[in-house]
Amino acid sequence: MGRLDGKVAIVTGAGRGIGYAYAERFLREGASVMVAEIDANTGKQAAAALAEIGPAEFVATDVTSVESVEACVQATVDNFGGLDILMNNAALYGDWDMGDQSFEYLKKIIDVNQHSVWLMSHAAAPKMVEGGGGRIINQASGAAYNYVSPFRSDEFTGMGTFNYQMSKWGVVGLTKFMAGSLGTWGITVNCIAPGVIDTEATRKAVPGTVIEMLAKQQAVPGVLNAEDLTGAAVYFASAEARFVTGQVLVIDGGKHMPA
Ligand SMILES: NC(=O)c1ccc[n+]([C@@H]2O[C@H](COP(=O)([O-])OP(=O)(O)OC[C@H]3O[C@@H](n4cnc5c(N)ncnc54)[C@H](O)[C@@H]3O)[C@@H](O)[C@H]2O)c1
Repeated sequence: MGRLDGKVAIVTGAGRGIGYAYAERFLREGASVMVAEIDANTGKQAAAALAEIGPAEFVATDVTSVESVEACVQATVDNFGGLDILMNNAALYGDWDMGDQSFEYLKKIIDVNQHSVWLMSHAAAPKMVEGGGGRIINQASGAAYNYVSPFRSDEFTGMGTFNYQMSKWGVVGLTKFMAGSLGTWGITVNCIAPGVIDTEATRKAVPGTVIEMLAKQQAVPGVLNAEDLTGAAVYFASAEARFVTGQVLVIDGGKHMPA
Protein backbone atom coordinates (compact mmCIF):
# COMPACT_ATOMS: atom_id res chain seq x y z
CA MET A 1 0.00 0.00 0.00
CA GLY A 2 1.42 3.36 -1.04
CA ARG A 3 0.49 6.60 0.68
CA LEU A 4 -0.62 8.10 -2.66
CA ASP A 5 -2.36 5.08 -4.16
CA GLY A 6 -4.65 6.01 -7.07
CA LYS A 7 -3.66 9.69 -7.02
CA VAL A 8 -2.62 11.63 -10.12
CA ALA A 9 0.25 14.12 -9.90
CA ILE A 10 1.89 16.71 -12.12
CA VAL A 11 5.52 17.47 -11.30
CA THR A 12 6.90 20.49 -13.16
CA GLY A 13 10.59 20.50 -14.08
CA ALA A 14 10.79 16.73 -13.48
CA GLY A 15 13.27 16.11 -16.29
CA ARG A 16 16.16 16.16 -13.84
CA GLY A 17 17.28 16.98 -10.31
CA ILE A 18 14.83 17.49 -7.47
CA GLY A 19 11.76 17.34 -9.74
CA TYR A 20 12.81 13.90 -10.93
CA ALA A 21 13.23 12.75 -7.31
CA TYR A 22 9.72 14.00 -6.40
CA ALA A 23 8.27 12.19 -9.43
CA GLU A 24 10.09 8.97 -8.54
CA ARG A 25 8.92 9.06 -4.92
CA PHE A 26 5.30 9.84 -5.88
CA LEU A 27 5.35 6.80 -8.20
CA ARG A 28 6.78 4.56 -5.47
CA GLU A 29 3.90 5.73 -3.24
CA GLY A 30 1.36 4.58 -5.84
CA ALA A 31 0.59 7.78 -7.78
CA SER A 32 0.56 8.28 -11.56
CA VAL A 33 2.87 11.09 -12.65
CA MET A 34 2.91 13.58 -15.50
CA VAL A 35 6.41 14.92 -16.17
CA ALA A 36 5.83 18.55 -17.18
CA GLU A 37 9.15 19.76 -18.53
CA ILE A 38 10.32 22.41 -21.01
CA ASP A 39 13.35 20.38 -22.10
CA ALA A 40 11.96 17.66 -24.36
CA ASN A 41 15.15 15.56 -24.20
CA THR A 42 15.37 15.25 -20.44
CA GLY A 43 11.57 15.14 -20.14
CA LYS A 44 11.22 12.15 -22.45
CA GLN A 45 14.18 10.33 -20.91
CA ALA A 46 12.87 10.95 -17.40
CA ALA A 47 9.37 9.71 -18.23
CA ALA A 48 10.80 6.58 -19.88
CA ALA A 49 12.95 5.78 -16.82
CA LEU A 50 10.10 6.58 -14.41
CA ALA A 51 7.68 4.37 -16.37
CA GLU A 52 9.76 1.40 -15.11
CA ILE A 53 8.41 2.22 -11.64
CA GLY A 54 4.78 3.15 -12.40
CA PRO A 55 2.46 5.08 -14.73
CA ALA A 56 4.48 8.08 -15.99
CA GLU A 57 4.05 10.26 -19.07
CA PHE A 58 5.78 13.32 -20.48
CA VAL A 59 4.14 16.46 -21.80
CA ALA A 60 6.25 19.31 -23.15
CA THR A 61 5.35 22.25 -20.90
CA ASP A 62 6.50 25.82 -20.55
CA VAL A 63 5.25 26.88 -17.13
CA THR A 64 5.28 30.56 -18.19
CA SER A 65 2.78 30.06 -21.02
CA VAL A 66 -0.99 30.13 -20.44
CA GLU A 67 -1.69 27.83 -23.41
CA SER A 68 1.05 25.41 -22.43
CA VAL A 69 0.00 24.99 -18.78
CA GLU A 70 -3.64 24.51 -19.79
CA ALA A 71 -2.59 21.86 -22.32
CA CYS A 72 -0.48 20.17 -19.63
CA VAL A 73 -3.40 19.96 -17.21
CA GLN A 74 -5.74 18.69 -19.94
CA ALA A 75 -3.21 16.07 -21.08
CA THR A 76 -2.92 14.86 -17.48
CA VAL A 77 -6.69 14.50 -17.08
CA ASP A 78 -6.96 12.80 -20.51
CA ASN A 79 -4.14 10.35 -19.68
CA PHE A 80 -4.89 9.52 -16.06
CA GLY A 81 -8.54 10.49 -15.55
CA GLY A 82 -8.14 13.38 -13.08
CA LEU A 83 -5.70 15.54 -11.16
CA ASP A 84 -5.03 15.40 -7.42
CA ILE A 85 -1.50 16.71 -6.79
CA LEU A 86 0.48 19.57 -8.33
CA MET A 87 4.15 19.89 -7.46
CA ASN A 88 5.32 23.33 -8.65
CA ASN A 89 9.04 22.57 -8.83
CA ALA A 90 10.22 24.08 -12.15
CA ALA A 91 12.44 27.16 -11.94
CA LEU A 92 15.43 28.86 -13.44
CA TYR A 93 17.99 27.48 -11.05
CA GLY A 94 20.51 25.30 -12.90
CA ASP A 95 20.20 27.69 -15.86
CA TRP A 96 20.17 30.81 -13.65
CA ASP A 97 22.75 33.45 -14.65
CA MET A 98 23.78 34.84 -11.25
CA GLY A 99 25.84 37.60 -12.85
CA ASP A 100 22.94 39.14 -14.80
CA GLN A 101 21.61 41.90 -12.54
CA SER A 102 19.51 43.64 -15.21
CA PHE A 103 15.88 44.64 -14.68
CA GLU A 104 14.90 42.57 -17.74
CA TYR A 105 16.40 39.46 -16.20
CA LEU A 106 14.72 40.20 -12.86
CA LYS A 107 11.38 40.16 -14.69
CA LYS A 108 12.26 36.91 -16.45
CA ILE A 109 13.21 35.16 -13.21
CA ILE A 110 10.03 36.33 -11.48
CA ASP A 111 8.07 35.07 -14.49
CA VAL A 112 9.60 31.59 -14.55
CA ASN A 113 9.98 31.01 -10.80
CA GLN A 114 6.97 32.81 -9.34
CA HIS A 115 4.27 33.66 -11.90
CA SER A 116 4.46 30.04 -13.09
CA VAL A 117 3.31 28.85 -9.66
CA TRP A 118 0.19 31.00 -9.96
CA LEU A 119 -0.34 30.00 -13.61
CA MET A 120 -0.03 26.23 -13.09
CA SER A 121 -2.20 26.35 -9.96
CA HIS A 122 -4.82 28.50 -11.70
CA ALA A 123 -5.08 25.87 -14.45
CA ALA A 124 -5.01 22.89 -12.08
CA ALA A 125 -7.43 24.06 -9.35
CA PRO A 126 -10.68 23.67 -11.36
CA LYS A 127 -9.80 20.02 -12.15
CA MET A 128 -9.01 19.37 -8.48
CA VAL A 129 -12.35 20.89 -7.46
CA GLU A 130 -14.09 18.58 -9.95
CA GLY A 131 -12.38 15.64 -8.22
CA GLY A 132 -13.40 16.81 -4.73
CA GLY A 133 -10.13 18.50 -3.69
CA GLY A 134 -6.40 18.32 -4.12
CA ARG A 135 -2.90 19.17 -3.01
CA ILE A 136 -0.61 21.91 -4.30
CA ILE A 137 3.02 21.95 -3.17
CA ASN A 138 5.29 24.84 -4.11
CA GLN A 139 9.06 24.73 -4.19
CA ALA A 140 10.58 27.84 -2.62
CA SER A 141 14.17 27.99 -1.35
CA GLY A 142 16.21 28.84 1.72
CA ALA A 143 17.54 31.60 -0.57
CA ALA A 144 14.34 33.51 0.28
CA TYR A 145 15.85 33.98 3.75
CA ASN A 146 19.44 34.78 2.69
CA TYR A 147 19.27 38.52 3.24
CA VAL A 148 23.04 38.89 3.40
CA SER A 149 24.85 37.45 0.39
CA PRO A 150 27.88 35.28 1.13
CA PHE A 151 29.36 36.66 -2.12
CA ARG A 152 29.44 40.40 -1.27
CA SER A 153 32.33 42.35 -2.83
CA ASP A 154 34.42 45.04 -1.14
CA GLU A 155 33.63 47.56 -3.87
CA PHE A 156 30.20 49.22 -4.39
CA THR A 157 28.93 48.02 -7.74
CA GLY A 158 25.30 49.17 -7.38
CA MET A 159 22.32 47.53 -5.76
CA GLY A 160 21.62 44.02 -7.02
CA THR A 161 18.21 42.74 -8.12
CA PHE A 162 17.90 39.81 -5.66
CA ASN A 163 16.15 38.13 -8.60
CA TYR A 164 16.18 34.47 -7.49
CA GLN A 165 15.71 35.34 -3.81
CA MET A 166 12.77 37.66 -4.56
CA SER A 167 11.13 35.07 -6.78
CA LYS A 168 11.28 32.47 -3.99
CA TRP A 169 9.99 34.97 -1.38
CA GLY A 170 7.08 35.44 -3.74
CA VAL A 171 6.47 31.69 -3.80
CA VAL A 172 6.29 31.67 0.02
CA GLY A 173 3.69 34.50 -0.01
CA LEU A 174 1.70 33.00 -2.88
CA THR A 175 1.46 29.74 -0.93
CA LYS A 176 -0.40 31.52 1.84
CA PHE A 177 -2.78 33.48 -0.42
CA MET A 178 -3.57 30.35 -2.44
CA ALA A 179 -4.11 28.32 0.74
CA GLY A 180 -6.54 30.96 2.02
CA SER A 181 -8.45 30.96 -1.24
CA LEU A 182 -8.58 27.26 -2.10
CA GLY A 183 -9.11 25.61 1.31
CA THR A 184 -12.86 25.86 1.11
CA TRP A 185 -12.70 23.68 -2.03
CA GLY A 186 -10.72 20.95 -0.31
CA ILE A 187 -7.38 22.03 -1.78
CA THR A 188 -4.40 22.47 0.53
CA VAL A 189 -1.38 24.53 -0.51
CA ASN A 190 1.99 24.11 1.17
CA CYS A 191 5.59 24.93 0.44
CA ILE A 192 9.00 23.30 0.76
CA ALA A 193 12.01 25.60 1.15
CA PRO A 194 15.17 23.54 0.69
CA GLY A 195 18.67 24.60 1.60
CA VAL A 196 21.58 23.80 -0.69
CA ILE A 197 20.83 20.44 -2.27
CA ASP A 198 23.47 18.41 -4.04
CA THR A 199 22.07 18.29 -7.59
CA GLU A 200 23.74 18.62 -10.99
CA ALA A 201 22.36 22.18 -11.11
CA THR A 202 23.96 23.13 -7.79
CA ARG A 203 27.30 21.61 -8.79
CA LYS A 204 27.17 23.81 -11.92
CA ALA A 205 26.28 26.99 -10.01
CA VAL A 206 28.37 26.60 -6.88
CA PRO A 207 31.94 25.27 -6.59
CA GLY A 208 32.08 21.92 -4.78
CA THR A 209 34.10 23.20 -1.86
CA VAL A 210 31.51 25.95 -1.22
CA ILE A 211 28.75 23.31 -0.92
CA GLU A 212 30.77 21.52 1.76
CA MET A 213 31.62 24.84 3.47
CA LEU A 214 27.91 25.85 3.58
CA ALA A 215 26.96 22.41 4.88
CA LYS A 216 29.15 23.01 7.95
CA GLN A 217 27.12 26.16 8.84
CA GLN A 218 23.95 24.14 9.47
CA ALA A 219 22.74 23.18 12.94
CA VAL A 220 22.87 19.61 11.63
CA PRO A 221 25.97 19.63 9.40
CA GLY A 222 26.02 17.64 6.18
CA VAL A 223 25.23 17.84 2.48
CA LEU A 224 21.54 17.36 1.65
CA ASN A 225 20.37 15.51 -1.44
CA ALA A 226 17.05 15.47 -3.30
CA GLU A 227 15.83 12.40 -1.41
CA ASP A 228 15.97 14.44 1.82
CA LEU A 229 13.00 16.45 0.48
CA THR A 230 10.69 13.81 -0.96
CA GLY A 231 9.21 12.56 2.32
CA ALA A 232 7.93 16.05 3.10
CA ALA A 233 6.28 16.26 -0.33
CA VAL A 234 4.56 12.89 0.22
CA TYR A 235 3.30 14.07 3.62
CA PHE A 236 1.84 17.31 2.20
CA ALA A 237 0.27 15.28 -0.65
CA SER A 238 -1.18 12.60 1.63
CA ALA A 239 -4.56 12.25 3.35
CA GLU A 240 -2.82 12.67 6.74
CA ALA A 241 -2.12 16.34 5.93
CA ARG A 242 -5.73 17.28 5.14
CA PHE A 243 -5.75 20.09 7.73
CA VAL A 244 -2.20 21.30 7.01
CA THR A 245 -2.24 24.31 4.69
CA GLY A 246 -0.39 27.57 4.06
CA GLN A 247 2.74 26.15 5.69
CA VAL A 248 6.38 26.46 4.69
CA LEU A 249 8.70 23.66 5.67
CA VAL A 250 12.36 24.67 5.56
CA ILE A 251 14.58 21.63 4.99
CA ASP A 252 18.16 22.76 5.35
CA GLY A 253 19.69 21.14 8.41
CA GLY A 254 18.60 24.12 10.52
CA LYS A 255 20.50 26.86 8.67
CA HIS A 256 17.38 29.02 8.63
CA MET A 257 14.76 28.75 11.36
CA PRO A 258 12.02 31.23 10.45
CA ALA A 259 9.23 31.54 13.03
N1 LIG B 1 19.27 22.40 -5.84
C1 LIG B 1 19.19 23.25 -4.82
O1 LIG B 1 20.14 23.48 -4.05
C2 LIG B 1 17.90 23.97 -4.56
C3 LIG B 1 17.73 24.63 -3.34
C4 LIG B 1 16.55 25.28 -3.06
C5 LIG B 1 15.54 25.28 -4.02
N2 LIG B 1 15.74 24.65 -5.22
C6 LIG B 1 14.64 24.66 -6.18
O2 LIG B 1 14.31 23.31 -6.48
C7 LIG B 1 13.84 23.22 -7.82
C8 LIG B 1 14.64 22.20 -8.61
O3 LIG B 1 16.02 22.44 -8.44
P1 LIG B 1 17.13 21.56 -9.21
O4 LIG B 1 18.37 21.61 -8.41
O5 LIG B 1 16.56 20.24 -9.57
O6 LIG B 1 17.34 22.50 -10.50
P2 LIG B 1 17.33 22.18 -12.08
O7 LIG B 1 17.73 23.44 -12.76
O8 LIG B 1 18.14 20.96 -12.34
O9 LIG B 1 15.81 21.81 -12.38
C9 LIG B 1 14.87 22.74 -12.85
C10 LIG B 1 14.02 22.06 -13.90
O10 LIG B 1 13.00 22.98 -14.31
C11 LIG B 1 12.94 22.96 -15.74
N3 LIG B 1 12.41 24.25 -16.23
C12 LIG B 1 13.05 25.45 -16.28
N4 LIG B 1 12.26 26.36 -16.85
C13 LIG B 1 11.08 25.75 -17.16
C14 LIG B 1 9.88 26.17 -17.78
N5 LIG B 1 9.71 27.44 -18.21
N6 LIG B 1 8.88 25.26 -17.94
C15 LIG B 1 9.03 23.98 -17.52
N7 LIG B 1 10.17 23.52 -16.95
C16 LIG B 1 11.18 24.39 -16.78
C17 LIG B 1 14.38 22.73 -16.16
O11 LIG B 1 14.48 22.30 -17.53
C18 LIG B 1 14.83 21.68 -15.15
O12 LIG B 1 14.50 20.38 -15.56
C19 LIG B 1 13.87 24.65 -8.35
O13 LIG B 1 12.64 25.28 -8.08
C20 LIG B 1 14.96 25.30 -7.50
O14 LIG B 1 14.83 26.71 -7.48
C21 LIG B 1 16.88 24.01 -5.51
